[in-house]
Amino acid sequence: MSLLPPEVVTVCYIVAAVLFILALKGLSNPRTARRANLFGAAGAALAIVAYMLSVELRNLVWIIAAMAVGSVIAVIAARRVQMTQMPQLVAAFNGVGGGAAALVALVEISHSESPWTLGVVAFTVLIGGVSLTGSFVTFGKLQGTITTKAVTFPGLRVLMVLLVVAAVGLGVALVVTGDSLWAYLLLVVGLALGVLLVLPIGGADVPIVISLLNAFTGLAVAASGLVLSNVLLLIAGTLVGASGTILTMAMAKAMGRTVAGIVFGAFRAHVASTTSAAGSDRPVRTMEADDVAILLDYAQRVVIVPGYGLAVAGAHHAAAELAEILRDQGVDVVFGIHPVAGRMPGHMNVLLAEANVPYDALIEMDEVNPRFKTTDLVLVIGANDVVNPAAKTSPGSPIYGMPTLTVADAQQVVFFKRSLSPGFAGIENELFYDPKVSIVLGDAKQTLTKVLSSVKASA
Ligand code: TAP
Repeated sequence: MSLLPPEVVTVCYIVAAVLFILALKGLSNPRTARRANLFGAAGAALAIVAYMLSVELRNLVWIIAAMAVGSVIAVIAARRVQMTQMPQLVAAFNGVGGGAAALVALVEISHSESPWTLGVVAFTVLIGGVSLTGSFVTFGKLQGTITTKAVTFPGLRVLMVLLVVAAVGLGVALVVTGDSLWAYLLLVVGLALGVLLVLPIGGADVPIVISLLNAFTGLAVAASGLVLSNVLLLIAGTLVGASGTILTMAMAKAMGRTVAGIVFGAFRAHVASTTSAAGSDRPVRTMEADDVAILLDYAQRVVIVPGYGLAVAGAHHAAAELAEILRDQGVDVVFGIHPVAGRMPGHMNVLLAEANVPYDALIEMDEVNPRFKTTDLVLVIGANDVVNPAAKTSPGSPIYGMPTLTVADAQQVVFFKRSLSPGFAGIENELFYDPKVSIVLGDAKQTLTKVLSSVKASA
């Protein structure tokens, strides 16, 4: 027997839906993101409680046990994960969401009789399966357990086409017969498609795939809402699907790609630049932290370009302090932000906001690029791919076509990194050998701390 009257449940669902929308809105700005997360969590909690009180639950013990296990895993994972591993966590959570939607649809087959519901079940199982394995392959690429380069093999295109045809055939068979066997086979096809869809995507396109799969999971969840006749699930899934799609398109635009180009273009094998920076015997200029302090003494216009290494080193507070000191000395200092610097959308904005860098000092790529021509000194702190000219000059490169920060237009460029190793895309950076470029070898935080003390000493 239901403990809540349907009207109350409906009101709870409307409140939860409003909380989800407020959460999405708030997540677009670091200032409001923390509160937005709480709104989202409160909306989900309200929805779960309202649903549980609105139906007669037969397996309450199992449900509570599953929720307890899931909560413990989620809390431990969220507490342990480093800021730099956040995208992997998002990818894993996303995959689990898609898998859950597929499972819900599989369970519901026995209650589904109309061709419409069976069609929705087929869609949910397929997309949920794609999302599950696609997200975990993305997880592996981000974690470095699977190569970040595009993986292709002869016959991949044919295999993909065959799987898509099989998926359509199995979906039709499920709708016509209502036999769950077709749904299980469809799940297997979905799981295989997820792997094959993401494996050939590499380099700079991986971040976009995360949000694309997020959109897929949203669609699968929305479809499972249709299967269960649960309006809130439909709304929540639609919100995730829509926001994931908007983010995918915004990121693809910022990267100079099209979504179709990323998914289908990936099937032409990328040939990564074969020369290795680490093995190159060409000379590079190195300098010490004290030398950077001297350069800063003469500079009037400085741009700091942060990247993934800044996050790994935890050097954002030191970078913010350096910028503040220079600003107090009358130097024009800004941070040049590339849309995919780091490992997640807005990674650098979030880090620098945490270090209290004013928002107007964070300048997006399109706006900062023209500034480099009149910039005296660029400090590239733990960034690599986002300033790599191979994106423009090397058609075989996995980042070819990605717009980059044109730091070489400045008078002088100094990299802070530990070695000549490449970045995420695994390719050499010709910039290291440019005569106007120097490298301070070492951990970015240690280097910045030394630069800071030299700058303070000479003030
Ligand atoms: P990367 O190209 O990955 O380069 C980071 C550099 O940081 C590395 O070359 C590394 O060099 C250096 N580094 C690592 N630890 C360091 C430390 N403790 N101190 C100093 N340097 C350190 O980073 P990026 O320029 O920010 O580019 C981002 C890349 O990630 C792009 O290819 C992008 O497509 C990809 N990606 C982005 C996202 C999103 S949405 N932002 C998501 C997934 C992937 P050393 O080892 O020599 O120190």
